[in-house]
Amino acid sequence: MSTTTTTTTKVETPFTTGAIQQDAAFWREYIASRPSPPEEFFRVIQDYHRTHGDPTTALAHDVGTGPGNIAERLLRYYDRVVGSDVNKHALAAAPELVSSDLIKRLTLVHSPAESLADAVDETIGGKGKTDLTTVSECIPLLDAPRALAAFRSLLRTGGTLAIYFYGRPIFTGGPDPARLDALYDRIATRICSFLLPFKGTPGFPVHQRAAEALVSQLDSIALPSAEWEDVIRYKWNADVSLLFNSKEGYDFEFEPVDRREEGETTEEIRDRTWWQDEWDADRIKAYLDSVYPSYIEKAGPVRYAEIEQGIDEFRELLGGGKVTVSFPVVLILATKK
Ligand SMILES: C[S@@+](CC[C@H](N)C(=O)[O-])C[C@H]1O[C@@H](n2cnc3c(N)ncnc32)[C@H](O)[C@@H]1O
Repeated sequence: MSTTTTTTTKVETPFTTGAIQQDAAFWREYIASRPSPPEEFFRVIQDYHRTHGDPTTALAHDVGTGPGNIAERLLRYYDRVVGSDVNKHALAAAPELVSSDLIKRLTLVHSPAESLADAVDETIGGKGKTDLTTVSECIPLLDAPRALAAFRSLLRTGGTLAIYFYGRPIFTGGPDPARLDALYDRIATRICSFLLPFKGTPGFPVHQRAAEALVSQLDSIALPSAEWEDVIRYKWNADVSLLFNSKEGYDFEFEPVDRREEGETTEEIRDRTWWQDEWDADRIKAYLDSVYPSYIEKAGPVRYAEIEQGIDEFRELLGGGKVTVSFPVVLILATKK
C-alpha cells in the first residue's frame, strides 16, 4: 500500500489573507480606524466624470469594496452601485455596516477583480454599462494588467476609471511632528519585519508588485493610450511615500517603476490639510492593527510588547491628547476610449 502525503502551503499576501476570515466586528474597526475621504475628494472624481466623456451617473462599480464603505459614499452620486470583492466575509459584513436605506441600491458581487468581466452579468449591469469604476485602497493588491482589462469590459465608452490609494499618516501638529513621523515609521517597520519572510513564499509576487506600486506612487500602473484617454494622476503630499513602512521592513529590494505614457498629466499638490483628521495614540494603534491584520499573532507576546511600548511613547508625546494628521494620496483618473 502506498501512502501519499499532501502538504498545503499557506499563501500570505499583504492585507488580503490576514483579513480573509474576519467577521463584521473586524470590518467595523477597519472603517473606524481608516481615514474617511472628505466629500471634496469625491467631488474631484465627479468633476472629472462630468467634464470628460459621457457624464451619466446611473451605475458605478466599486472594486475591492470590502464591507462597502466607499460604495456607500458613491450612492450619493450614482443611482445604483455594484461592490465586488474577493473576500466573501467582508461582503457579508456590509448589511451591518452600510445604512439600511442606502444598501437597497447596492449590489454585492463575490469575485476577484481580475475576473469581473465573467462575474458581472446583464441583470446587475455588467459589460459596457458602468459609468464609473472606483478602485479604493486596493490596486497594489491586484494583477493590474488583468484587472484593468476587466475594468475596461465593465465600463462603457466615455466612462471613468478612478483608482486611488492613501498611505501612512503624516503628523502635522504638536511641537515636533518630525519626531512623531519617525516614531510611527519605527513601529510600522518593526511590525512589517514580524511578517517576514516574504521572499521565497507563495505570496511573494503579490508582496513584490504591491511594494513596487507603492514606492512608485502608482506610476507602475500603466494606462495604455490605445485604451484610455485624459489620464490625470493627482498626487497629494507626494514628498511622503505611499509605503506603510520603510524599506528596511522588507526582505527584498524594490525600486520605483514609471509606466506613465506621453500625454498624461501629473499634478502634485502639497497640502498638509488634505484628508485632515485628529488622532490619539489609540487611533494610531487601531490604524496599524488594520494595515497589518495578522501581526499580533505573528509577533507573539514578547515582540508585541515592543509595539505596545511604542504606542505608550506616542501617548506620552501627545500628552494623552490628539494630534492633527494628513495623508499622501494618489488618485488616477482616466476615460475609457
Ligand atoms: C484595504 S481593503 C479596501 C477596502 C475599501 N475599498 C476601502 O477603500 O476601504 C482592500 C480590499 O481589496 C480586496 N481585494 C484584494 N485582492 C483582491 C482581488 N484580487 N480582487 C478583488 N478584491 C480584492 C480585499 O479583500 C479588501 O477587501
